[in-house]
Amino acid sequence: MKNVHQIHRGRRDALIAAMREHSGGGLAVVPTSAEVARNRDSLYPYRHDSYFYYLSGFPEPEAVVALVAGSDGDRHLLFCREKNEEREIWDGFRYGPDAAKEIFGFDEVYPIAELDHRLPDLASDRPALFTPVGMTSEWDRRVAGTLNDVRARVRTGVAAPDAIVDVRGVLDRMRLVKDAHEIALMRRAGEISSVAHARAMAATRPGMHEYEVEAELVHEFLRHGAQSVAYPSIVASGPNACVLHYRENDRQMADGDLLLIDAGCEYRGYASDITRTFPVNGRFTAPQKAVYEVVLAAQLACLAAVRPGVPFHDYHTVAERVLAEGLIELGLIAGPLDAALESGSYKRFYMHRAGHWLGMDVHDAGLYQEKGASVALAPGMVLTVEPGLYIRPGEGVPDEFAGIGVRIEDDVVVTADGVENLTARTPKTVAEVEAACGSGNR
Ligand code: GLY
Ligand code: MN
Ligand code: MN
Repeated sequence: MKNVHQIHRGRRDALIAAMREHSGGGLAVVPTSAEVARNRDSLYPYRHDSYFYYLSGFPEPEAVVALVAGSDGDRHLLFCREKNEEREIWDGFRYGPDAAKEIFGFDEVYPIAELDHRLPDLASDRPALFTPVGMTSEWDRRVAGTLNDVRARVRTGVAAPDAIVDVRGVLDRMRLVKDAHEIALMRRAGEISSVAHARAMAATRPGMHEYEVEAELVHEFLRHGAQSVAYPSIVASGPNACVLHYRENDRQMADGDLLLIDAGCEYRGYASDITRTFPVNGRFTAPQKAVYEVVLAAQLACLAAVRPGVPFHDYHTVAERVLAEGLIELGLIAGPLDAALESGSYKRFYMHRAGHWLGMDVHDAGLYQEKGASVALAPGMVLTVEPGLYIRPGEGVPDEFAGIGVRIEDDVVVTADGVENLTARTPKTVAEVEAACGSGNR
């Protein structure tokens, strides 16, 4: 088994190879995220930059990876904070350059305070500079300063890079296909989130507030070692389920409501993203069940459509077809099916895509189309499968369906012949969901 930091070093080697391929070599510089103040002396919980972390596994702020793909060989450099006893008493441990070099597998590690001073040398006589362009204005200014410093030395015989390349393009391609280490972490993230959804089903009762259920989710995430939610949890009861990005989570739930929960943890830098919809009192009404079965049929059909070689877009087309068919059967839109698909009449009730890439970011890195064609699925790609129906009250909507919102979302990794469902443990069929609901009380 590879040491985890050999895995990061391997990714850096892959980026260096891609830099040679792209521009005959160069310098890559990738900074991590800045700390952000929440109020006065309090910071938001720190979250590293995903590109930086992908290359380094280094968790601290104020750090930059620099990689040289040179005619004189490769170099892996890290800039990070120095040890500082005073700061470590207040804020906790810092690796410092010596330990960071050893533990994270870099060739050279320097104090972050030396970055501006060292970058011009590193960038001199390189054909290209690979860096995130336009990510933050502060970083853009720093890069421009480095380039100007190199140009100022032109009379000493050095040349500045001709090309500035957004390194995120190269890294997005790498990040799209997950390695075994990433898939193992995502499997764990999926398991934790599955258990949290089951806990939410078990705990929910009429009369509770949405935030009480949110607390159950967070409790389960943290107690299994997840560091955070991957995104703000959506705990949307009754009509709130029809608000796609609902986030107040403060409504008191009534007997007879459905509850749509879209929530997932972030585990060691990797996201999970699950949605389930269940009856607050533990039993679907007939109209709720009718809508639920349509969404479930769509979700199962989508799952069956995901396999290597198939264009990414295909399962969205499957979702549209099965959902439109169901809407016609429910009497919510007019048939026939081909006319409904052609006119897009179903979009009144299904207005989002069937899924997205998933990884370090919830809507993860990676193109969906290349040269006008949908990207072909390949083993190691991870995506969500999340059809839904959102029936807002309005003209032509029978009262029995008005306000029903259902989404079912799983996370899958494409395998050699289909998918592995990373969130398969989450109750999903009507029978499974009803059995899980309120079971905390039995
Ligand atoms: N939770 C965000 C999404 O489902 O895309
Ligand atoms: Mn989601
Ligand atoms: Mn999603």
